[in-house]
Formats: sequence, structure tokens, C-alpha cells
Amino acid sequence: MRISVIGCGYLGAVHASAMAELGHDVIGIDVDARKIAQLAEAHPPFHEPGLPEILASATASGRLRFSTDIADAADAEVHFIAVGTPQQPGRPTADLSYVDASFEGLLPHLADGALVVGKSTVPVGTAQRLAERLASAAPHASLAWNPEFLREGFAVKDTLEPDRLVYGVADAEAADLLDRVYQAAIDAGTPRIVTDYATAELVKVAANAFLATKISFINAMSEIADATGADVTALADAIGHDARIGRRFLNAGVGFGGGCLPKDIRAFAARADELGVGQSISFLEQVDQINLRQRQRVVHLAEDALGGSVYERRIAVLGVAFKPDSDDVRDSPALDVAVSLKGLGADVVATDPAGIENARSRHPQLTYSASVEDALRGADLVVLVTEWREYRDLDPEAVGGLVAARRIIDGRNVLDPGQWRAAGWEYRGMGRP
Ligand code: UDX
Repeated sequence: MRISVIGCGYLGAVHASAMAELGHDVIGIDVDARKIAQLAEAHPPFHEPGLPEILASATASGRLRFSTDIADAADAEVHFIAVGTPQQPGRPTADLSYVDASFEGLLPHLADGALVVGKSTVPVGTAQRLAERLASAAPHASLAWNPEFLREGFAVKDTLEPDRLVYGVADAEAADLLDRVYQAAIDAGTPRIVTDYATAELVKVAANAFLATKISFINAMSEIADATGADVTALADAIGHDARIGRRFLNAGVGFGGGCLPKDIRAFAARADELGVGQSISFLEQVDQINLRQRQRVVHLAEDALGGSVYERRIAVLGVAFKPDSDDVRDSPALDVAVSLKGLGADVVATDPAGIENARSRHPQLTYSASVEDALRGADLVVLVTEWREYRDLDPEAVGGLVAARRIIDGRNVLDPGQWRAAGWEYRGMGRP
């Protein structure tokens, strides 16, 4: 099929490449000329495992092209809107200006029978509003909402082999067109839910709200564990064996961040308020607060480890990305911790295998080192806040030779306390005795 993808960020660039990988003829559109130039040369503008390979093969085959001119999308049968919906500065609500601008920009270029498909995460009611606009401005085209559930770090796999497909549609023709787009996944037996616009929009935010709640639940348990001498990791293992609960997303630590969960739960709560049903999900405020509290908790642990103050003490911060296998530092708990420690006068050296460039552009006041050894050298305290494989695999004995004092805070509960203590380290986890 002929497909356009409007917006080539973390979502759109992967979606466009994956659609081309499936054999479709794809054009990716973005207003950022630099990003488009990089993508056209098969250089992903961000870190995502597997993306370089499919981007290279798709651009080389000619099935994937990029442009800054939305008119170049005109002969596509299906147009995916994959632009960002960030949190508005100083407000909990989502900024829909990119969705609205790309939608309006597309209107004059829609061919007869074209389908516009929203992928961006939006407040419930947005699709209906856009459908009404489409009905008056381009009645020969139609709209569907098809939320995306990809996880950064697994985005290529999640797009090529989704665990479910959700279509919010107004008619059967739209669902048929989407079936043709996702033929490979449908042939593989992927569950497909065809529903109305509002439900499709809600599926996305409800899923993210549930995941965020699960993480904050275990982080609340980890605070209780700290107060009682219990071990939250054993607790999570034990309750996780109940199939109704499940072990995944029960890892206590510095909490969730990134471009989705934090802003999605805030926008969802704000939208519920607008709808007059704010009380129904007011618990999401607690979920957010519990989450943000974990960042402070790590800072307090650091003060505690250093005898009450971090002032002028050398601290190695391992990780700035919001999670491993990503260079994304949006709302990153790890970066927040580094910035707070620096704010308290600590001599912070932060390191990360992929996130330094993004972190530096947001927080140039921090000192960064690409080498984990250099970050560790002479440190009075090590704080692990992003669980990259290379940090999980650190050898406590070897690392012990680099630091000034063997003290570590495991902000992700991924190290073996016994092993680190046996090597002479003072180990502190989050809700672990
Ligand atoms: C999330 C959703 O998983 C995805 O379906 C949606 O499309 C976008 O938002 P993503 O933001 O890529 O994806 O990351 P995810 O893997 O969900 O992790 C989110 C945050 O939660 C990370 O900061 C991670 O470190 C944290 N987390 C996750 C925990 O703190 N504990 C856990 O047990 C799991």
C-alpha cells in the first residue's frame, strides 16, 4: 500500500521503517529538516535497537522516502499521524498543536478514499473532533484511531509483531484498509479489537495508567519495606506468582519516566476533570506523587550514605536515560536525580551509554563522562539509576579499585546485594534490607 507517516520521532520513524519493512511504499514527513536529512541517509536521529538495520534496507530498496513537504504525501492511501503530544509547560494537559497542525496540513492533499489514521496519544474526544472537521473539509476521506503501544528499546519488534491491534473506526471500510496495512500481523494471529473512536483513544491511556499504577504500587510497597526491614524484591516475586497479578512491571526503584507514562497519566486526569468525572481517576495523582517521591528518596539515600550531606562529595551517577536501550531523557528519573544531587552541591559525574548528548542539551551544568571507568574513578558514592546491562554486569571487585569509597545505591534493585557486600561495599537498595 502507499502510506505516509506524518511525524518522524520515536514513534513515526520506527512506524515508517516498519511499514516499509512489511513491503509497503512509505513516505515519512517531518517539519524538522535536519531529522529528515538524517533519516534519508539511513541515520536514525535517536538510539533504537534494530532501527538502523530496517531503516537502511528500506531506504536502499526505495520503499521508504522522506520529505519535509506534506504535499509529497498526496498519493498515499493511508496517512498515519504520529506526531508528539507533549505535556503543556506548567499544565497537566496535552499539547495538541502538532496533531492539529499536521491534520490541517494534510487536508488539502487527501486523495479520494484516503484514510487518516491517528497514532498519537490524545485526550479522549480528539478523534471525534477531527472526524467532524474531516467531514466538512474533506468528505471524500475518512478517519481512524489506531493507538500505538510500542516500548522504546523494543520499538521495532513491537511494531512488526504487536501484541494487539486496536482500530477506532466509524465504518467497516476503514477497518478493511487497516487490515491491509497490518496483513502480516493479522495472518500471524494478532488479536484485533475493532471499536469506536473514544474506546480506541481510551485503550491507550488506560493501558499506560494501569502500568504506571502497577509501578507506583510496588514503589509504595518498597517504602513500607524500608520501614519494616522487609525485602520488596522477594515480595514482588511472591505476589507476581499469582497469575492475576503477574511479575512484570513490579520492579521497585527510582520510578517511571520517559515521553509517555508521566505525561499520559497527567493528561488523562486533566481530561477526566474536564469531563466532570475527575474523581474516578483522582488516584492517578497519587500514582504520580509516589513516582516522583522515589527520585527524592534516592537523593535522601545518597545524603544518608555520605553522613548527612552530599556537598562537595564526588558522586558517580550511572545512567541518565529514562530506561536502558534508549537515549531518551524526557522526564528521566535518572537525570532528575543527577540534577538534584548537583543542586545540593555534589561533584556529580554522570555517565550513560546513549543518553549523554540529550542530557547535555537539557542540563549543560552537569559533568558527563562517556566512560564508566572515568565516572567511577575517585567517587565517594556510586548511584545506579538506569539499569543498562553494562551496569548490571559491573564486577564489584574491579569497580572497587576505581572508587575512593565502596558505597553504592542501587536505584533499580538490579545488583546482587550479597555479592557487592562480600566485596566490601556498603550497599543500599530501594526497599531491600
Ligand atoms: C510505555 C508503554 O510501556 C508503552 O506500551 C507505551 O506505548 C509508551 O509508554 P516506554 O515509555 O517506552 O513505554 O517504557 P516502559 O518500558 O513502559 O517503561 C516506562 C518507565 O517505567 C521506565 O522509566 C522504566 O524504567 C519504568 N519501570 C518499568 C519501572 O520503574 N519498573 C518496572 O517494573 C517497569
